[in-house]
This record gives sequence, C-alpha cells and structure tokens, in this order.
Amino acid sequence: MPQLLALTGSPSAHSRTAVVADHVLRRLAHSGFETAHLAVRELPAADLLSARRGEPEIRRALDAVAEADGIVIATPVYKAAYTGLLKAFLDLLPQDGLAGKTVLPLVTGGSLAHVLTIDYALRPVLAALGARHVTAGRFVLDSAVEHGSGPGRLRPELELDLFQAVDEFADALRAADATARGGPALTAAP
Ligand SMILES: Cc1cc2nc3c(=O)[nH]c(=O)nc-3n(C[C@H](O)[C@H](O)[C@H](O)COP(=O)(O)O)c2cc1C
Repeated sequence: MPQLLALTGSPSAHSRTAVVADHVLRRLAHSGFETAHLAVRELPAADLLSARRGEPEIRRALDAVAEADGIVIATPVYKAAYTGLLKAFLDLLPQDGLAGKTVLPLVTGGSLAHVLTIDYALRPVLAALGARHVTAGRFVLDSAVEHGSGPGRLRPELELDLFQAVDEFADALRAADATARGGPALTAAP
C-alpha cells in the first residue's frame, strides 16, 4: 500500500490546518493507507532556518518526504500565500523533491478572498519540485473547523466536500501504484 505523509505548515500550537490534515489522514488510514503527520513547527527552529539538512530531526523529516508516495500538503493562508514556515521546509528539499509523488493541496483561511492561494501560490511551488500529479485541492474556511480538547471537528457539509477531494487523491495514488507495479494502465472515459 502507498505511504502517505501530511506536511502541515502552521506555526500555531492549536492549528486548524492540522485538524483538517488529521481528519484527512484518518479517512485515508481507514482506506488502508499507511499515514504519518509531519508538523513543520515541531522541527528544531534553528536547524530549519539555518538549513542544517544533516541534523537528525531535519534529516528524518526529509527522509519521510522522500519515502512517501503521496503527500497531503496543508497550510494556512498567511498574507495571501502559504506560510513562511512551510516554505522554509520546502526550501530544504532537493529540486526534484516531489518527483513521482501524488500531492493533495489543502489551504485554510479566514476569508474567501484568498481562495485562489492554492492555484496561484502553492501549485507553482509543487510543480517546481516536480510533483507528478497534484489532485484537486480544497480551501477550508477557519470558521468551519472547531478545535478544542478533542481531535477537532469539521462542519458536516464541508466534510463531504473535503472527502470527495480525499477520495480522488486516494484513487490517483492507487492508479500510480498500479502503474509502478506494471498493472493495467488507466483508460480515458468514453
Ligand atoms: C499572520 C496571519 C496572516 C493571515 N493572513 C490571512 C490572509 O491573508 N488571508 C486569509 O484568508 N486568512 C489569513 N489569516 C487567517 C488564517 O489563514 C486562518 O485563520 C487559518 O485557518 C489559520 O490556520 P491555523 O490555525 O492552522 O494556523 C492569517 C492569519 C495569521 C495569523
């Protein structure tokens, strides 16, 4: 089964973006995928900002990205783009660091004014890193995410839409896995 990694880029200890990513990972784990969550904020800040790729925690994080078949990349909108924290980590990846991978982009934000952040800010970076297939992402309003002491919750109508994106991502991963194993190629719908 393909391995999945959620990479989240919020500096917040009570991150709504992380709630959304965990929700997505639970569904993918339920479908049989191996999942893990890497919150960039948990990496040692000085090593991250000084690009010390050889330090153990940074090395392990980079290896986790390299070994994943699929990446859920989730970030809050900060000043109309992804966070600087996420970019600091992406800058440590090799130029083709997402080559061969299937990627699901997720963005949370406070206003629909920045709904295009996925397409105008995040997608170009994912393409530059060689992502094989970036599936349709979702922008989630922060007001739709509740987080408290438990695992956090999403509004039901939002959950349905989010899970549609997750299921498309899972299908793309299975197709990539079948192709890599020499299975039947996907045919276009008539
Ligand atoms: C420094 C900062 C900048 C932000 N800039 C934007 C913005 O430009 N557009 C927007 O829609 N929301 C913006 N927000 C709101 C966050 O994107 C939103 O609350 C998000 O869900 C927070 O995610 P988190 O809880 O994972 O950190 C900003 C929040 C902060 C703290």
